[in-house]
Amino acid sequence: MGRLRIGILGAAKISGSFMVGAKASSRVDVVAVGSRDRGRAEAFARTHGIARACSYEEVLADRAIDAVYIPLPNSLHAAWSIAAARAGKHVLCEKPLATSEADAIEMFAAADAHGVVLVEAFPYMFQPQTLEIERAIAAGAIGEVRTMFATFGFTMAEAGNIRCDPALGGGALLDAGCYPVSFVRQVFGDRPVAVTAVARWVDGVDHTLAATLEFGGGGIAQISCSFATAVHRRAIILGSAGVIETEFHNHTNRAVAPSYRIKRGIDWQVEPETVPVAREDGFRVELDAFAELVERGDRGSFEARRIASLDNAWTLAAILEAARTEARM
Ligand SMILES: NC(=O)c1ccc[n+]([C@@H]2O[C@H](COP(=O)([O-])OP(=O)(O)OC[C@H]3O[C@@H](n4cnc5c(N)ncnc54)[C@H](OP(=O)(O)O)[C@@H]3O)[C@@H](O)[C@H]2O)c1
Repeated sequence: MGRLRIGILGAAKISGSFMVGAKASSRVDVVAVGSRDRGRAEAFARTHGIARACSYEEVLADRAIDAVYIPLPNSLHAAWSIAAARAGKHVLCEKPLATSEADAIEMFAAADAHGVVLVEAFPYMFQPQTLEIERAIAAGAIGEVRTMFATFGFTMAEAGNIRCDPALGGGALLDAGCYPVSFVRQVFGDRPVAVTAVARWVDGVDHTLAATLEFGGGGIAQISCSFATAVHRRAIILGSAGVIETEFHNHTNRAVAPSYRIKRGIDWQVEPETVPVAREDGFRVELDAFAELVERGDRGSFEARRIASLDNAWTLAAILEAARTEARM
């Protein structure tokens, strides 16, 4: 198979960063961008050297397009992923895949019915740092994981941002908290059996939220997220025989050489080791993995990603409900 031909639905802010990764990939070509506004599509196409500027519907109808990238507001992910699958396009949909598990199930059902791949776009998952940490944990480098803390936050200063609109699936949990929820799920390999949460609400969306997630095997995780802190992203994974600390970035940090820290052993006197990792553009590694999945049709990998996405969708909805009702879900 040649390079995967991709169309973008939406001249979103993130679409600009996506284009940097797409241009660095040897496996994909972005051949069209759709927008609700033709002028905006044309301006985006000119800036990024994309051949076709059109509407979302025209992207889906274009037989020369193999796959679409969906960077729409969270509440629109389900409808447009389903429309794209029905048009026979593979789908790389921005995180969080859906605002409910029921929507995520419908999205995967549409992908199955039309024989296409649907992937939740989490660049951090494809970073060498994340893959190495997952391998180290699976190899028993820190023993059995008992607890984990993961957090992501930043200052939301922009008025009118889609992240602050409850009707568009806004809020700190769906926007930023989906990362710690996803990473915790990757480490424990399952959805939690119970969640509790507290949140501070501003204009109908959670601005700061913390949650406790309990897992079937006895593991406990705590996550937090915020639109009202200095930017940070960090996780501490605590096992029976050691500790891993990481920033689990989407794109390796330009200011700091990418690495993670691992302490092997249970005593105070054990010095943590700093493990350097390769510097990567998250969208490039994500797009290469997406193209590989489409080309090789690796069902095992697709099924693992499907289960992870369904778990994430269920957990995000359960956390929001727990924060709203102060009940244990
Ligand atoms: N992976 C990452 O690193 C990362 C980073 C940031 C955001 N994201 C995700 O990417 C998605 C978009 O985020 P963003 O910050 O790029 O948002 P954004 O700049 O507001 O872009 C969203 C785009 O959706 C389209 N759209 C369609 N209906 C809309 C409506 N009713 N209101 C507003 N826009 C509408 C617009 O494109 P047209 O006007 O051209 O149609 C708009 O440009 C979200 O799901 C977010 O979670 C991912």
